[in-house]
Amino acid sequence: MPTDTKDADVPAVETSGLVKVFGDNRAVDGIDLHVPAGSVYGVLGPNGAGKTTAVKVLATLLRPDGGQARVFGHDVVREPAAVRARVSLTGQYASVDEDLTGTENLVLLARLLGHSKPAARTRAARLLDAFGLADAARRQVKQYSGGMRRRIDIAASILITPDLLFLDEPTTGLDPRSRNQVWDIVRAVVAMGTTVLLTTQYLDEADQLADRIAVIDHGRVIAEGTPGQLKSSVGAGSVHLRLRDAGQRAEAHELLSRALVAQVQLESDPVALTARVPGDGTEAGAAEQAAQALAQLTRSGITVDHFSLGQPSLDEVFLALTDHPAHDAEHATAAAAEETRR
Ligand SMILES: Nc1ncnc2c1ncn2[C@@H]1O[C@H](COP(=O)(O)OP(=O)(O)OP(=O)(O)O)[C@@H](O)[C@H]1O
Ligand SMILES: [Mg+2]
Repeated sequence: MPTDTKDADVPAVETSGLVKVFGDNRAVDGIDLHVPAGSVYGVLGPNGAGKTTAVKVLATLLRPDGGQARVFGHDVVREPAAVRARVSLTGQYASVDEDLTGTENLVLLARLLGHSKPAARTRAARLLDAFGLADAARRQVKQYSGGMRRRIDIAASILITPDLLFLDEPTTGLDPRSRNQVWDIVRAVVAMGTTVLLTTQYLDEADQLADRIAVIDHGRVIAEGTPGQLKSSVGAGSVHLRLRDAGQRAEAHELLSRALVAQVQLESDPVALTARVPGDGTEAGAAEQAAQALAQLTRSGITVDHFSLGQPSLDEVFLALTDHPAHDAEHATAAAAEETRR
């Protein structure tokens, strides 16, 4: 029997009980992750959940305070150089130089990575072209839009094709078109054989890109699985209704709860309701179930003025998983500090 393990069998990321504290704030509070090589792994969580901190520990930019983390079998504390040789990070707050042009940035970084001058120029031109930035190549990065900026950041982090790419909230704040462009880029990077670990605040983004998702809250993993598994536990969709008459809301609430066998929430707007649609974990199943529930309301003489079916938001995911909405840990910490001061 051969004793050497094939690289493909070694997970890209393996952590157990990973901890990182800032003072008495346990930003990462015992995280276990297993990211198979060749996959896209999504880490989903609200502001302050510990996503960036976890990524920085894995990229050897922060030293953990407890537990273990290995990247392609290399311990992040004992073998940081071996880890760095395999990974690349596109940060939430970017690293390209604002005063340089797109081309200058990429050529400079490629030179720092050891490419010869002609090779650096070729690589830069190719990436700018592939990322739809050829026209902007000679403009200073500070003149780029948010979407262009995110694309050049990703381009900068794949000048040398990394084995593992960390993408920290690659699309936060982007418009739908730019988000789609970034998603296409991520898919192209994956097609080159790179493992991707991405953090996001959007369930639909994790759903679009990731093979598996870990949901984190207050530095802990509160759910883990494939997007399908996650959606079948939280519902594949969520239906928002506005009634003509606020007086019919109690009846609508009761009918919907029964029809959907799910939690129905009354919004602060007196004519509005939101309900999780469990379906069978698929969007088609959710649409079918929502349509039937709606038909039942109509049969009972309840007038619906507005109706929409969407993917569950991060808030709804958290509500389903934790019985509390996703809240901003920063605000919670600030509020707690304020409380102590009083
Ligand atoms: N360098 C630091 N010093 C002190 N506290 C920090 C530091 N970096 C992060 N924190 C705290 O650690 C917690 C987790 O922060 P982190 O940036 O990892 O969250 P996040 O999930 O990336 O949030 P966001 O979605 O807003 O980017 C927060 O409470 C934050 O205030
Ligand atoms: Mg972050």
